[in-house]
Amino acid sequence: MNSRKKPSELRSARWFAPDDLRSSGHRSRTMQMGYAPEEWIDKPVIAILNTWSDANPCHAHFKHRVEDVKRGILQAGGFPLELPALSLSESYVKPTTMLYRNMLAMEAEELLRSHPVDGAVLMGGCDKTTPGLVMGALSMGLPMIYLPAGPMLRGNYRGEYLGSGSDAWKFWDERRAGTISEKEWVDVEAGIARSYGHCMTMGTASTMTAIAEALGLTLPGASSIPAPDANHIRMSSAVGRRIVEMVWEDLVPAKIVTEAAVNNAVAVAMATGCSTNAVVHLIAMARRAGIDLSLDDLDQAGRTTPVLANIRPTGKAYLMEDFYYAGGLRALMAKLASKLDLTTLTVSGVTLGETLEGAKCYNDDVIRSLDNPVYHEGSLAVLKGNLAPTGAVIKPAACDPRFHKHQGPALVFDTYAEMKAAVDDETLDITPDHVMVLRGAGPQGGPGMPEWGMLPIPKALLKQGHRDMLRLSDARMSGTSYGACILHVSPESHVGGPLALLRNGDIVRLDLEARRIDMLVDEDELQRRRDAWVKPAEKFGRGYGWMFSRHVAQADTGCDFDFLESSFGPSPGEPDI
Ligand code: FES
Ligand code: MG
Repeated sequence: MNSRKKPSELRSARWFAPDDLRSSGHRSRTMQMGYAPEEWIDKPVIAILNTWSDANPCHAHFKHRVEDVKRGILQAGGFPLELPALSLSESYVKPTTMLYRNMLAMEAEELLRSHPVDGAVLMGGCDKTTPGLVMGALSMGLPMIYLPAGPMLRGNYRGEYLGSGSDAWKFWDERRAGTISEKEWVDVEAGIARSYGHCMTMGTASTMTAIAEALGLTLPGASSIPAPDANHIRMSSAVGRRIVEMVWEDLVPAKIVTEAAVNNAVAVAMATGCSTNAVVHLIAMARRAGIDLSLDDLDQAGRTTPVLANIRPTGKAYLMEDFYYAGGLRALMAKLASKLDLTTLTVSGVTLGETLEGAKCYNDDVIRSLDNPVYHEGSLAVLKGNLAPTGAVIKPAACDPRFHKHQGPALVFDTYAEMKAAVDDETLDITPDHVMVLRGAGPQGGPGMPEWGMLPIPKALLKQGHRDMLRLSDARMSGTSYGACILHVSPESHVGGPLALLRNGDIVRLDLEARRIDMLVDEDELQRRRDAWVKPAEKFGRGYGWMFSRHVAQADTGCDFDFLESSFGPSPGEPDI
């Protein structure tokens, strides 16, 4: 292993050690909080970026769990500093947390840069908190461990297990079809989310924490532990102890998040039946580590990595609690070992292969093997064509296979409100072969690329018994969503992508096998429409949104801000003290 750091080499020593007036101020102000010098001098100072807030039910336990992290840090001879960070509650933040993922990334990076800290524990879990925290911490480069919030317990409604999001959509369609009463619906609301922790389907949260683990950024098995399980408390104090050691070892993320680790994360994402959102975040995180992961790389991995996790919505049966009891991500990675590079280093200080030693699967239906997968290919496919020149994504395993090759007339909506009114209109003139299109919902148009991509099936079709149809948008969809939804169409219509040229009645053709998405409109006609296209008005006149619209990248390259990407310019280095 690396030679150990000396106390005088600690970054925090630059704040605390010098015999000058500024440092004296730092020491005096630490004593103001009641700490004696021997409690922090010559000890690694560990930032705990805590995304707890009263507005984030997924992180409710972080208010107390952070004390377990601090306990571990103190036991190992470190000094904890809890720094609150943007909570990014998927449940409440509008128009979408995606508008603020980069804000959290900026906050994480700058919190670490500006404070006297030597290492970091990142406490997140609810969808965008994982990529936001990891992106920022990667750019800063201090030793860090990701502490996943853990999934909530399974939902329970009249003896049935309910999955976050997925079953809400499913049951809501029944409500709209009139098969569930208003009174019964209250029981669904009460039963579907009944403990703290993040969504317990294989939505964006479970996908992203699994990705963090596969990158080597969590303790082994950490991402699968349900939030209310006592193992989660023990994992948290172990994180505290380990991060102190990582500082002495100078085990920085650059040694962990290598190209091989990113490839492992991609393979694991595919095998979990990952959320479509994983595409955007994986690309953004990889680029922060200087690795140019592309949509084509993801499609390639999708073709060769089957889905092994039988977890809703891609899997039909189980939830994250079952996944944990079946052996969790370590068991899945052990089954996927032939497709992983087991020599990558993890925050544990040992290789991924070593962390998988002894991993066992206790339920082969929950975690399938390579020769008996849930789906023969990975969970995502990337489409290109004259509707999406730089790419779009679809989740083939989560849609009715009859849509894998499909063509039908477009029904196009320019706003969410227009679409919502139409789907509730029982007299809407629409057939099951129609392709419903929502545009103006991309990174700039949305703004922030809201999760509108699983357009509701029109009532007119629901009443005829239809539960799926082909849908197309430049939006994202929730990781807990499902159906024949083509998402992330790039470039988005707001910036003049060809989706902006589509008209009602144009024939849209999907050919999944050929990975094509096209509109059957001839080039002369498209050129006429291009010439007539008028750029929509800007969404923001000031503030964060104004900055967002000027700097956000398109979905195919990860939606980071251009000026935050590692290729933009040199890092500012250490602050003057
Ligand atoms: Fe927080 Fe789903 S709402 S993870
Ligand atoms: Mg979600």
